[in-house]
Amino acid sequence: MSSITITRPDDWHLHLRDGEQLRAVLPHTAKQFARAIIMPNLKPPVVTVDRVLAYRARILAALPASLQSGFEPLMTLYLTDNTPPSEIIRAKESGVVQGVKLYPAGATTHSDAGVTDIAQCYATLEAMEQNNLPLLVHGEVTDPDVDVFDKEKVFIDRILAPLTQRFPDLRIVFEHVTTRDAVAFVKESSSHVAATITAHHLLLNRNAIFQGGIRPHHFCLPVLKREIHRQALLEAATGGDPKFFLGTDSAPHSQASKENACGCAGIFTAHAAIELYAAAFEQAGALDKLEAFASFHGADFYQLARNKDSITLNKESWVIPEQLEFAGEKLIPLFAGESLAWKMV
Ligand code: NCD
Ligand code: ZN
Repeated sequence: MSSITITRPDDWHLHLRDGEQLRAVLPHTAKQFARAIIMPNLKPPVVTVDRVLAYRARILAALPASLQSGFEPLMTLYLTDNTPPSEIIRAKESGVVQGVKLYPAGATTHSDAGVTDIAQCYATLEAMEQNNLPLLVHGEVTDPDVDVFDKEKVFIDRILAPLTQRFPDLRIVFEHVTTRDAVAFVKESSSHVAATITAHHLLLNRNAIFQGGIRPHHFCLPVLKREIHRQALLEAATGGDPKFFLGTDSAPHSQASKENACGCAGIFTAHAAIELYAAAFEQAGALDKLEAFASFHGADFYQLARNKDSITLNKESWVIPEQLEFAGEKLIPLFAGESLAWKMV
């Protein structure tokens, strides 16, 4: 095969940041994807519908003229211990909020305003269940006694499984799943539970973090896992199950904040998102499954129309730049300086 054409994909989990950084990274996503679910972990976090609307306006204003009609940001509200049920009604009525993001407080970048105790949120989650507004979950416990590689599994047992029992009609996206335990949980759950999978978790296992030395550009949260888990993710992504769909979790941090004694978590993949997924699907001999994963399952779960136009990928080797401009700093993209086999036309 030398070329594939698929319905234009959407990115169901994306970090765009703000200001000059937003302007620097947004074109990478907008040239490939029709829509993206925009994460609300800004400083300050996007905890009210008013902030959502203002952030959405800043994203639209940051789009280059050539991409202005072609990209739609799908917005999310940042859940806190104190988000009132009335804010859920406002979110629903706004028509632009597609989900509410649960960050356990302290779990990841800019999550300190997140939820400290899920029981604080029950009334708000009930409002989401009643108003058909999905909950998007960063599925890791923050308990410092839990091993970093077990945080996702423990989150399922302690928080997520009980939550699906208590709110059976709440639609939940288990974001960036990284373990076979998470895959199994999603498969066993009702049709209200789905998951996104990143390209980097499909392509890399945890050895990549220590390949010949410590590799800050392979550090993200949830952290890369063992090969058996990567295999389970690949099977889930390529298996045709509509519960699994594309979410890059592309998360830009400057070179200086990554290559640091306490480096930030986050891998930037927006520069070659669909090509990276194509590489993973090709390795699994499942390129024919890419379109449903990238372009159908997410839209169906979010109850949005599938895109009408298409994109084409050519089998054409190209080299990823060593670095990208990032608001006066440098951004190191995943696989900087390495070559990829597929290129979007
Ligand atoms: C994300 C970020 O930098 O905002 N980092 C990451 O490693 N994925 C936050 C997140 O999604 O956990
Ligand atoms: Zn994320």
